[in-house]
Amino acid sequence: MEPRMEHNLTPSNTQQIEAWKLMIVDDEEEVHQVTKLVLNQFAYEGKPLQFISAYTAQEAQEMIKAHPDTAVILLDVVMEKDDAGLRFVHYVRDAMLNKNVRIILRTGQPGQAPEKRVIQDYDINDYKEKTELTAQKLYSSVYTSLKTYNMMSEIEASKMQLQQYAHALTYVNESLEQKVKIKTQHLEEKNRALRESIWGTMTAMVEVSVLEERTKMAKEIHDIAGHTFTGTIVQCEWLKHLIQEEPEQALLKADQLQNHLRQGLEKIRATVKTVYTNARDSHVEFHRLVRHLLEETERHMHVTIGYKQKNQDELEQLPTDLQKLLFHALQEGLTNGIRHGKSTEFQFKLIYKNGLIDFQLQDNGIGTDHVTYGFGLTMMQEQVEAWNGEFFFQSKPGKGSTLSIVIPYERSATNTRGETATGELNISRMNSS
Ligand SMILES: Nc1ncnc2c1ncn2[C@@H]1O[C@H](COP(=O)(O)OP(=O)(O)OP(=O)(O)O)[C@@H](O)[C@H]1O
Ligand SMILES: [Mg+2]
Repeated sequence: MEPRMEHNLTPSNTQQIEAWKLMIVDDEEEVHQVTKLVLNQFAYEGKPLQFISAYTAQEAQEMIKAHPDTAVILLDVVMEKDDAGLRFVHYVRDAMLNKNVRIILRTGQPGQAPEKRVIQDYDINDYKEKTELTAQKLYSSVYTSLKTYNMMSEIEASKMQLQQYAHALTYVNESLEQKVKIKTQHLEEKNRALRESIWGTMTAMVEVSVLEERTKMAKEIHDIAGHTFTGTIVQCEWLKHLIQEEPEQALLKADQLQNHLRQGLEKIRATVKTVYTNARDSHVEFHRLVRHLLEETERHMHVTIGYKQKNQDELEQLPTDLQKLLFHALQEGLTNGIRHGKSTEFQFKLIYKNGLIDFQLQDNGIGTDHVTYGFGLTMMQEQVEAWNGEFFFQSKPGKGSTLSIVIPYERSATNTRGETATGELNISRMNSS
């Protein structure tokens, strides 16, 4: 078996080629000469023939390798061997995979290669006995062959162009997919950052309200102190005078002054105490953040939210990561309920009892029976499962939706993430002042 070789067909376009290559394969020199003589003036589509001569099948193999764009081969059957010509056909078609070149078999011994069998078995295009091949017949045979060859080359060229388009299309498609992927990643990151920043904004807003309260108290202290001391200073002046003139009156006045001072002191003490208590509690508490989110949502989105929050102090003890998870779940649940469910009312419950966090958000929206998780629910589910918790989203058309989260969390024991809960608590209390 000959080595298989990819035949690289350069699609010959009539405009591109200068001459049609015609190969004469025959062991008789005379046949070469006669053929050239007959076809000397031949032209097709204004292009002449270029003759290539080979005297053995072996030589023909070399020639076709050197000229893969040969258009027609006039081939003798019997040369160095009885079937040398047929073997050469096999080489061209099956090893070189050249299906375009037109092969005209010319035999002097028709008995050697019966026409029908040869045409069928060897993929040749015309079969002529040398005796019947007159000049006119040779001429028309070459003409027909060239016509077919030219057509096949054009088809081949279009096929190649189509393949190139297909390649280009695949490339464009792939690069488009890649771009979409990058864009999606980018958007997801932005989404994550945005959700995170809402927590930050809420914290900052609550901090500001604490600060405002402190400023108010400072002003109060300033006013009380100002009022009390200014009054006292003026009265002391008057007292100095009175001691000399009317000592008894002065004593009475001193008593009044003392009382005035005492009252002022009491007021200042009371205010300072409030400031102190507030300062002690002024880290941003989780329940404040939750309330703030609910109030802001009610105010801006024109919805009502029923809220049941028990064991408030217990919730404050949860690690910040868990608090953030719950906060984000609430935020996403509210957004989804408004955006997808067109809800106007929510019921929210958040309880931490007996080592279990129980979160439930119900809406009165349109509901759905076909849910494909997007970024919101997927993130939520992943985070809940990372804490060994369970996540459910239930929805029915016309019956609203319910988002439930249950997370086990033992404060004193080593928690599921391998952090000691108490250690985590002390470190991660937000803004402890
Ligand atoms: N409360 C709800 N009412 C009705 N349908 C909902 C509700 N919550 C979620 N869905 C449905 O579940 C889908 C997935 O929600 P998810 O939050 O995962 O993604 P999203 O809101 O579409 O996009 P993303 O959260 O990434 O902005 C929604 O597209 C919606 O069809
Ligand atoms: Mg969503």
